Amino acid sequence: METSDRILILDYGSQFTQLIARRIREQRVYCEIQPGTMKADRIAAWKPKGIVLSGGPNSVYDPDVPLPDPGIFDLDIPILGVCYGMQAIAHLCGGKVIHGIREYGRAELRIIKDDPLFAGFHRDEPITVWASHGDHVDEPPPGFTTIAVTETLRVAGFRANTRPIVCVQFHPEVAHTPRGDEVYSNFVFGICGCEPTWTAGSFINDSVARIRQQVGNSQVICGLSGGVDSSVAAALVHRAIGDQLTCIFVDHGLLRQNERETVERTFRQHLGIKLIVIDAAKQFLEKLQGIDEPEEKRRRIGETFIRVFEQASHQEQGARFLVQGTLYPDVIESISVKGPSATIKTHHNVGGLPKDMKFELVEPLRELFKDEVRNVGRELALPEEMVGRHPFPGPGLAIRVLGDVDEERLHVLRKADAIYLEEIRSAGLYDDIWQAFAVLLPVRSVGVMGDSRTYENVVALRAVTSRDGMTADWYPFPHDVLARVSSRIINEVPGVNRVCYDISSKPPATIEWE
Ligand code: XMP
Repeated sequence: METSDRILILDYGSQFTQLIARRIREQRVYCEIQPGTMKADRIAAWKPKGIVLSGGPNSVYDPDVPLPDPGIFDLDIPILGVCYGMQAIAHLCGGKVIHGIREYGRAELRIIKDDPLFAGFHRDEPITVWASHGDHVDEPPPGFTTIAVTETLRVAGFRANTRPIVCVQFHPEVAHTPRGDEVYSNFVFGICGCEPTWTAGSFINDSVARIRQQVGNSQVICGLSGGVDSSVAAALVHRAIGDQLTCIFVDHGLLRQNERETVERTFRQHLGIKLIVIDAAKQFLEKLQGIDEPEEKRRRIGETFIRVFEQASHQEQGARFLVQGTLYPDVIESISVKGPSATIKTHHNVGGLPKDMKFELVEPLRELFKDEVRNVGRELALPEEMVGRHPFPGPGLAIRVLGDVDEERLHVLRKADAIYLEEIRSAGLYDDIWQAFAVLLPVRSVGVMGDSRTYENVVALRAVTSRDGMTADWYPFPHDVLARVSSRIINEVPGVNRVCYDISSKPPATIEWE
């Protein structure tokens, strides 16, 4: 991103490092996360307008801890140290860090010296902040001044007297620090002098230029899943190179109702993108015959997908590049220092392609978070139905038909799922929910319809709220919505006589049932 002002975040392993990036990007300022040990000369060459040192799980007194290159203090680039970032600066500059007194939770911060970081805050009004640290700074380094305190910390923030370095012991990036976004906006605008120029539109312009430069006149293929990431990646690459792009959509027969038609309509008619649809349903269903173990289902689907995709891609002779919808959280995972942020992982992605395919990769979304991808999709005129949709797992309905999967059971689930989603949408609740879907259970239950006894399928409904899929809460539907969904499914889907609502959180349950 050469055209926008940018901030560099040095990561020391905090679980909140990604949130720092989110807060800064929400201000329309581009930022990137790099390992905390990045050398000062490389940092200078990257030309950040400011540097944030993240928190981290370590103590500066632990052996082999990641520390910033002290050379960064001489670059004359503004630095904000957060929590461990503050302790690391104190430690390197001669302050006193006290080891081992834990503080975790809400604290009241009092500003004792005006500072541009706290512009808009009043000295006599305590500020609620979130603390999460084992060590703390007890004395600022020589040449630094304390700017804030809490009931328990006599140094909750300090700044250098003659250099643009400012630090806080709390986490302004978390929601529990209600005015934390003002702290980041004070840093990036007030202290670093950034302009808020990083938008979906500017991202698209830059990307189009980069994609053209990368692929030249070569042919490019893109595997579409129907999900947000691959759709936006394809639309973006198409904006850059038009008909040099061919998309391949593998219909594995495990899709939701009308999904294939939606993809065909959107890509062929709406966007005018060349699209090859491979109907491989039979092949996948054969592979799944008699398989009820979830991981084995995933393995077989993954393998078959690779085989089918490879075959289809061979037909596109001369294609040199492959588009992938890799997102920034995947990239961060591979570059972060060891610590909690390195261990938070995205789900194993069935539908992923092997590394040894002969293509060079085009990954135009590598710098974006999910909601930024959605905004880019909207800017590229993808329909809201596509950019705002809930995540859908690569193995599709195969892990939602519990136990054996066959065409008949898939058909029952598809119908129930479609009614459920339709009612959620018409109640205006779709966007409040992270993911909602129906599951077909491998049991039958007794019921009564008219005058006769039935012995039929049970459908479970799942809906959760979540920030990232790592943890989730079940969604508290209004009872009338549940009532409508239940009676419609039982009345309209032959073979179902009972509907249950799943009220388990993750953890200990997972979002999917398999
Ligand atoms: P769980 O069930 O582990 O799911 O709580 C977390 C998120 O990951 C999705 N998921 C998958 N996505 N391939 C995928 O591409 C898979 O095998 C898979 N399994 C679960 C799930 O839908 C949720 O969004």
